[in-house]
Amino acid sequence: MAAVLQESFASRQHRNLGFIARALLCLACLAGVAPLHAETGAQAWLRYAPPPDPPRYRDMPHEIVRLGHAPEEQAAAEELETGLGRMIAGAPETLPAFHRDIDAIVLGTADEMRRSESMQRHLHGYQPVPLAPDAFRITHVRNRARQCWVIQGGSPRGVLYGAFRLLQWIAQDRQLPTDTTETPASTIRWVDEWDNLDGSVERGYAGPSIFFDHGHVRGDLSRVHDYARMLASVGINGITVNNVNSDLRTLQPEMLEEFARIADSLRPYGIRMALSVDLSSPQVVGGLPTFDPVDPRVIAWWQAKVDEIYKLIPDFAGFTVKADSEGRPGPHQYGRSPLDAANALAKPLQAHGGVVLYRGFVYNNHLDFHDLKADRARAGYDNFRAYDGKFLPNVIIQVKHGPIDFQVREPVSPLIATLRHTPQAMEVQITQEYLGQQRHMVYIAPMWSWVLDTDMRVDNQPSPVRDIITGKTFYQAQGGMVGVANVGMETNWLHHPMALANLYSFGRLAWNPTLTPESTLDEWTRMTWSNDGRVYEPIEQMNLASWHAYEQYTGPLGLGTLTDILGTHFGPGPESADGNGWGQWIRAVPGPHGGIGMDRTVATGTGYIGQYPPELAAKYESLKTCPDDLLLFMHHVPWTYKLRGDDPGDKTTPSAKGAPTANDADDESEAKTSTKTVIQHIYDAHYAGAATAAAFVDQWESVKSLIDEPRYNEVHALLVFQARHAEIWRDAINDWFARESGVPDALGFVGHHTGREEAESLPGTGFHTVDVSSWETASGGKAAVCNAAPCELHTTFRGAANPYRIQVGYFDRHPGAAQYRLLVNGTEVANWTADDMLPPDRPDDRLNGHTATRFVAEGIRLKPGDTISLEATPDDKDLPAVDFLEITRDPRWN
Ligand code: GCU
Repeated sequence: MAAVLQESFASRQHRNLGFIARALLCLACLAGVAPLHAETGAQAWLRYAPPPDPPRYRDMPHEIVRLGHAPEEQAAAEELETGLGRMIAGAPETLPAFHRDIDAIVLGTADEMRRSESMQRHLHGYQPVPLAPDAFRITHVRNRARQCWVIQGGSPRGVLYGAFRLLQWIAQDRQLPTDTTETPASTIRWVDEWDNLDGSVERGYAGPSIFFDHGHVRGDLSRVHDYARMLASVGINGITVNNVNSDLRTLQPEMLEEFARIADSLRPYGIRMALSVDLSSPQVVGGLPTFDPVDPRVIAWWQAKVDEIYKLIPDFAGFTVKADSEGRPGPHQYGRSPLDAANALAKPLQAHGGVVLYRGFVYNNHLDFHDLKADRARAGYDNFRAYDGKFLPNVIIQVKHGPIDFQVREPVSPLIATLRHTPQAMEVQITQEYLGQQRHMVYIAPMWSWVLDTDMRVDNQPSPVRDIITGKTFYQAQGGMVGVANVGMETNWLHHPMALANLYSFGRLAWNPTLTPESTLDEWTRMTWSNDGRVYEPIEQMNLASWHAYEQYTGPLGLGTLTDILGTHFGPGPESADGNGWGQWIRAVPGPHGGIGMDRTVATGTGYIGQYPPELAAKYESLKTCPDDLLLFMHHVPWTYKLRGDDPGDKTTPSAKGAPTANDADDESEAKTSTKTVIQHIYDAHYAGAATAAAFVDQWESVKSLIDEPRYNEVHALLVFQARHAEIWRDAINDWFARESGVPDALGFVGHHTGREEAESLPGTGFHTVDVSSWETASGGKAAVCNAAPCELHTTFRGAANPYRIQVGYFDRHPGAAQYRLLVNGTEVANWTADDMLPPDRPDDRLNGHTATRFVAEGIRLKPGDTISLEATPDDKDLPAVDFLEITRDPRWN
């Protein structure tokens, strides 16, 4: 021990020097000369940048005493070494025992502390307390002249969580509390990855899988290790690593051996691996003539398979099951129920401590659109209600938060209030399938909190969703949240640097669903970007405005996102909602006697509203009390129906209140305060949302000199794209609604574009005119396409001499990179390559709302008679397709 202490004295001197060096560095930061080294985003929020005021943490010990040997405790000590080393000074080190002459951070469980002789002898100020397994307590203890921090975990995993929390406080530059205990709200804090064995990721927008490649588990799993570390830092304890649309090879013996390597990489971070399984596996993998879940041969097959898995993966978490849904096989084929199937899998898992997360996402995607009683939203309740209370205790029903499919706004699924005797986990999407696919910044935690806050009024009692899913309301031992994350091999995990705020906040809300989206965002922003208010304030403002802005420029009033549901779910495609079997209907009825919205009332509609507990049902059933933001989800109304005026984001209504809050849904006021019609609201919301998105660019530019260049540029390019794409959304949706309703925009904006000339009507060479489908995604429904260079369009400017903004609307087919040049009187003023960062989901060479994009050249000085030309050069995968040229006064120059 003497040798250890001597060595540690020397290293402390070294660290003190390190501390002084860092303090000087920070003085330099305060003087505004901070060196902003390039960052890639790979570290996510675990950057451990020195906080602005290290002296605040001057007394933080540099010795770590690790009392236990569990992998999670080793990971905790390593994390403290890394984090404190980077943020405070020098290189902390880990010792196996406590000594009275050292300042130390002591790590251990209650048992380990009681067994530790050194701790019993020298650290009198601390008594271990009983803690729940994943809980931790962090306590500051003065040991005579010594400073100690004790991180006690209810389990080794709890120790790890405590270590991360201490580091987070420092990284966020917080005053350290002296005694804190945290217990996670629920047992299920999982992420799902929709990764395929071939290396693709369903609804993944950040490159190929970190787990699989060419049909196998990757040889190099270092990204999986890094990901596990990120997940553990926010308290995630389970991960389903393969797509819910599970590959039929998943349960083959050779594959299971490969999966065991993933489980090994996750284990040090306390994360248990689960697998998505296909219910036909007994037949496809096992060679049985049937997969009927009640057949004794099938039951025996699952038993043997589960035993085989646990031999390879002793801490295997369980199965995730998608069945009888979107073409996946299921018990229905044999006249059996979800109950039969879930219990058949749960039984063998029970003995090993595994669970079945059986998805409530069971519905018929061949509904009859002409049947006014048909309703996809009813399916969860209709398919599961009868079995409540009959599942084995280790079956957890995984329910999507809304009854449809992760739309920009949906009411809470009524199934959540229905399962009183069955544990449930609420599924949300971190990957932004319907929310801009990580090309748009959409901070989703405000939506999740709105859902968690929704009071379902079970038995006319307060019963917020957060209490139901964590098991409080119905006294369930299990429950929680599952987030579909879909990270990829791209360095920064999710493509958009801002999207990481969603992953972070999901983990924090799964840990503690009473946290506010503002607080989780603040934590993330400080750790990811900076503790400088000039940086975190604008970033937080932008993020907090983003969900509502996205809702405004896509589908407001409960219409759903209004994307092309038959395509990639990215750009506008309102036409695709109705007329097919998918049931994401908006029931738009054209003309002055028509209207819009799904009638889901009990009185005249599908009866869906009757699935809610009576108080909530009454609120939704009546037009007088149904909130505006869900109006068209619940009711079919005429185009000119007048709103209540309670949309909190609609700044033009008298009741505007700023950002949406949970209580908005509880506003029982029956008084109509608005004179705005549904159709006018749709128009106005689209202008308001697109304007907010445009403002993000300016807000971001205010942080330019304060953060590193690579990340600044990356976000800037994405926000510019979003601003343009928001306008495409605005124009497509508004044009479509104007034609459907036949009601003109009272403010005169819709369909009128000052300074715009349609490409198909401009003189030039090489271009020919094509119809665009859907028509509303192109101005005038047409575009001018260039098959072979050279192609050129011209126009003559006739306005007054001034600086102008020249906007070119065009389609950017993916992949491929057409070239464009913009010239004034033969002199080039701009050039660009059409290789926008469109979702890599699949190549798209069509002209539509996914490929529509815009380029803007600002500050171009024009005078009457100038010739403006656009030159386009195709490549073999991207034939230039130009929609319009628009010349307007430049707001920045006028
Ligand atoms: C959505 C999504 C699918 C996914 C499905 C599911 O429909 O588009 O890709 O498979 O949800 O959650 O199972």
